[in-house]
Amino acid sequence: MSIPHGIKRLGVLGAGQMGTGIAFVSALHAKVPVLLHDKSAHQISKGLSLIDKLLAKDVSKGRLQASDAADARARIQTADSVEAMRDVDMVVEAVSENLDLKRAIFREFAAKIRPDAILATNTSSISITKIAGAVIPEGEPAAGEVAKAVSGRVVGLHFFNPVPVMWRVDAMYEYQKLVELISAVQTSQDTLDRSRAFAEACGKEVATSQDVPGFVSNALLMPFINEAIMCLEKGVATRDDIDKTFRLGMAHPMGPLQLGELLIGLDTCLSIQQTLYKGTSDSKYRPSVLLERMVDAQYLGKKSGRGFYEYNN
Ligand code: 3HC
Repeated sequence: MSIPHGIKRLGVLGAGQMGTGIAFVSALHAKVPVLLHDKSAHQISKGLSLIDKLLAKDVSKGRLQASDAADARARIQTADSVEAMRDVDMVVEAVSENLDLKRAIFREFAAKIRPDAILATNTSSISITKIAGAVIPEGEPAAGEVAKAVSGRVVGLHFFNPVPVMWRVDAMYEYQKLVELISAVQTSQDTLDRSRAFAEACGKEVATSQDVPGFVSNALLMPFINEAIMCLEKGVATRDDIDKTFRLGMAHPMGPLQLGELLIGLDTCLSIQQTLYKGTSDSKYRPSVLLERMVDAQYLGKKSGRGFYEYNN
């Protein structure tokens, strides 16, 4: 049977929260075999244990047949290098927010992965056009056919944390169903169509955004979180009252301070905010001093055990 996205094998680079979640929904919902790669063996084993835990929970809650969970788990294998992912039809990069790192990874993808594969990034804010610019082989003219073919395969596919959570029938809103689809200047229509179809096969709904700093999601979300931190910094309200205002006043599932440090991480918030500020020179995106100090102190939120709140990890 032909599938509209044509993805028969997926590679995922980065086994952190996002990469693990992407591997999970791809194997479970899109039923696509996944090769998961991370340079850290520890990160891979953490990612696989989380997947096992999530599948076991879905089975215990009666949402998933044990045999379907076993099939999904069997679809997820690990790869020990990018080379080992060479035959995939699409690769999704989900590493930390660093332009130079992403450009190096995409150069490696373009050199090692089959020449018709889609090269997707889960970046939260970095320009897809800049990443696509990195894949042009040295000496090739940027507007030439070779450059057009390879950079046309680069796309932004931005998932939202927690990626695996999609089905709460009792909730008044749909959890984390979104994938933001971002086209680089160079992205081909075929890449966009197949990427959309793939995200939908993963059980997600797609919203498209232009390739501007932060896209739609983080151009709006990060100033909101930053402004909440500024309110705390200026003593406008307490931590609990800032979060309560949005939980109880605007029906947000969690307040902006909780969201920034529980599901994103204050270091990631700062790096996205810096990308927004650098990319626009607009003072509305200037990171708050308190956000910078929190990151300096490694008070990053849940991931480091302490942020504005404390956690027993
Ligand atoms: N991973 C996997 N599953 C998780 C999870 C995680 N990190 N956190 C919570 N869950 C699961 C719980 O286990 C529970 O599953 P169950 O239904 O099987 O019991 C389910 O989510 C609901 O959890 P709770 O009942 O404990 O609590 P809530 O109803 O408050 O839901 C939440 C938790 C889903 C995290 C919800 O609070 C929420 O949707 N929060 C907002 C999330 C959000 O805004 N995310 C966007 C982050 S921004 C981003 O990702 C973009 C990036 O570029 C910055």
